Amino acid sequence: MRACKHDQLFKERSKPLFESLTAASADAILGLIAEYRDDPRPQKIDLGVGVYRTPEGDTPVLKVVKHAEQILVDTQDSKAYIGTAGAADFNLAMQALIFGAASPDDRLVTIQTPGGSGSLRVAAGMILRSSPNASVWVSDPTWANHVPLLGGAGVKLKPYPYYDTKNHVIKIDEMLAALRAAPAGDVVLLHACCHNPSGLDPSVEDWQAIADIIVDRKLIPFIDSAYQGFGEDLDRDAYPIRLLAERVPEMMVANSCSKNFGLYRDRVGTLSLLVADRATRDVVNSQVNNLVRTIYSVPPDHGAAVVSLILNNKDLHDEWIIELAQMRERLRDMRVRLNDALIEKTPDRDFSHLLRATGMFCFLGITTAEVLRLKKDFGIYMVDSSRINVAGITVKNVNYLAESIAATLQRG
Ligand code: LMR
Repeated sequence: MRACKHDQLFKERSKPLFESLTAASADAILGLIAEYRDDPRPQKIDLGVGVYRTPEGDTPVLKVVKHAEQILVDTQDSKAYIGTAGAADFNLAMQALIFGAASPDDRLVTIQTPGGSGSLRVAAGMILRSSPNASVWVSDPTWANHVPLLGGAGVKLKPYPYYDTKNHVIKIDEMLAALRAAPAGDVVLLHACCHNPSGLDPSVEDWQAIADIIVDRKLIPFIDSAYQGFGEDLDRDAYPIRLLAERVPEMMVANSCSKNFGLYRDRVGTLSLLVADRATRDVVNSQVNNLVRTIYSVPPDHGAAVVSLILNNKDLHDEWIIELAQMRERLRDMRVRLNDALIEKTPDRDFSHLLRATGMFCFLGITTAEVLRLKKDFGIYMVDSSRINVAGITVKNVNYLAESIAATLQRG
C-alpha cells in the first residue's frame, strides 16, 4: 500500500525528464545519407558525406585492412580493456606517420582516440582545463561539425577569413591579418591538407607566413589532419604539422584514420599534444588520460589494432601505400573529368577551381537554391553550401551530373 502511495506522489510531483525538448535539426552532412538512401531514382548521385567510393560507387573495406583483420582474428587473444591512452604500438607508429622521422618524442604525448571527432573533443577539454579563456580561431568556412563539436564542448570560437567564394581562392592576406590581430595564447585551428570543405590549401610560402605569425604572436596551432595521403602524398600532406612542430613550443594535432585507412565506422584517430619540455609532458600526459576517463573511458580497439599492424609490417605498409595512391589518383581524375564535362555543357561558367582543390572536397560554387533544385529535379545530393565529395563522381555518371548542373544553372 505504501509503495502505491509513493508512486502516486511521484507521478503528481515530477515532470517527465524530456518534456522540455524540441526536435533537433538534421545534421547538415549526415542527414544526407538517409535522404539519398530513400530516394528511389536509379540515376541519383551522392556527393554528400565524405566517404571514398570506387568507380562502381562502392565504399569497400580496403584489401590491406582485410589482410590485417585476418591476422588479428588469428592472433588476438584478449578483448580486455586497453588503457585510456590506447595501444602504445599504435600511438608510436602514428607519431612517426604524422610527425615524421624527426618526431620530437620527448615532448610529445599521443593518445588513441575514437576517430578524429573524439580527438577534437578531448583537445577541447584540454583547452578548457588549461586555458579556459582562450578562443579557438576557425577558418570561415570550416568542417560543418567543427563549430558544434568544439563550441558544444564549451570552447569559445572566432572565425578567420579563408575562402573567397567569388574568385575561389584562399583569402590569404585577410587570414594573415586576422591571425596577426589574435591575442597571444589563443588557439588557431588549421587543416593540415585537403581543407574541408573548400579543398584549397595554403601554399608552402603561405604556410611559412602563417607559421611566422603563430610564432611571433605566441598563438597555439591546433591542426586537424583527416586526409593525410589524399592530397599530394603522406609526407607533403604533413608539411604544416612538421613545419610548426619545429618552430613552436606547444601545439595540438587531431588526426583521423577514417579516410586514409577507410576505417570510418571503426573510429580510429589520435590526439597529439606537443609541449615545451619533458616535465610538462608528464603533467599533460596525466591530465589528458584523466580527461579521457571522464568522457569515454577507453578508446575502441579494433580499428587501431588494424592500423598498427599495417604501419608496423613492411608488406602491409607497402600494400596500403598502393591502395592509398589509387584512391588519391581517382579523386584527381574525377575532378578533371567533371571540369571537362562542365566546359562542354556550360562553356560560360568557369569551374577550373575544381582542379586547384585537392582531396575529397571542393565547392561547386552554386547557390543553395540551385543545390536544392539539383536534389529535387535530378536526385543529386550535396551539402547546402555546394560542397561536393568528388569520390561520388564516376565515369558513368559524370555526364548526367554535368548536364544536370547545366540545366539547373540555365534555369537561373
Ligand atoms: C565529411 O565532412 O563529410 C566527413 O568528415 C564526415 C563527417 O563526419 O562529417
